[in-house]
Amino acid sequence: MERVSGAILNQWRAEARRQALAEGLDPQEVDWLLQWGAGVDKLQLRLQTQVSLARPWEEAQNLWRRRLTERRPLQYLVGEAPWRQFCLQVRPGVLIPRPETERIIDLVQEQVELTPELAQGNWLDLGTGSGALALGLAHLLPEAQVYGLDCSAVALEVAASNARRYPPPRPIRWRRGDWWQGVLDLKGQLTGLVSNPPYIPRGELPHLQREVRDYEPVLALDGGEDGLESFRVLVQKAPEFLAPGGLWLAEAMAGQAPAVCQLLENQGEYGFITIHSDLAGWERFILARRR
Ligand SMILES: C[S@@+](CC[C@H](N)C(=O)[O-])C[C@H]1O[C@@H](n2cnc3c(N)ncnc32)[C@H](O)[C@@H]1O
Repeated sequence: MERVSGAILNQWRAEARRQALAEGLDPQEVDWLLQWGAGVDKLQLRLQTQVSLARPWEEAQNLWRRRLTERRPLQYLVGEAPWRQFCLQVRPGVLIPRPETERIIDLVQEQVELTPELAQGNWLDLGTGSGALALGLAHLLPEAQVYGLDCSAVALEVAASNARRYPPPRPIRWRRGDWWQGVLDLKGQLTGLVSNPPYIPRGELPHLQREVRDYEPVLALDGGEDGLESFRVLVQKAPEFLAPGGLWLAEAMAGQAPAVCQLLENQGEYGFITIHSDLAGWERFILARRR
């Protein structure tokens, strides 16, 4: 196993953090890469004179150079993204799961505490991507049958591999299809559904930061002309699939929540429509119950 002195790693860390700041990147990425490459956190770095590396030091340094020059997301470079208690596999073609999306699982947990019957039955993650939400649900609700759906074959392959890495008490069932087309057999049978659908208005796509615009899949981002196209499909059809009292919960972009609430109101079959904020205070989550 390769060994490098703590002083060298510390020196590299200071320089890489400086480069990150100069390039407008989050310097915490450096610590994350060190944790990945060296298997040590910054406290251990200070304490250890010699560090036994988890991976070749040259590899971590190369990845950091590519991060700076190509602006490729670090998660794609290392092939992993931390999300809740998991370290999920990611690769091009699959959206990198975001920390704010973790809140969906907390919201489900809060709802289950209020209404314990929600812990049973069938749950669906629409647009599962890396499988993050499906996996979060399946571990939170061991008695439920969780389904994860996506139209992307690459996403489903990665999601299934993540479920093998963190096997839930009850295996997730994966479905491929264009939204509801993939789960027609579940009509009237869902206890709850969650979704983080594509919601960026098409005209904004060219102005996204390079990491997202150049590397993340358009299919996961493009929400149509006004960003609400997927929400219309999810709101309109869900009452056919949700059992009475079933839970509807989705993530939206900051500023979209009132419009999504309006779609739910107009549909007419939902009650208890509420908006919830992310940790930064942005109103990002919309929750409703089928009447
Ligand atoms: C914003 S990503 C969310 C991925 C994952 N749930 C997460 O939170 O990290 C949206 C996902 O919806 C999928 N998707 C887009 N259009 C779809 C459609 N018509 N039917 C099914 N899935 C779709 C994309 O492939 C992508 O994986």
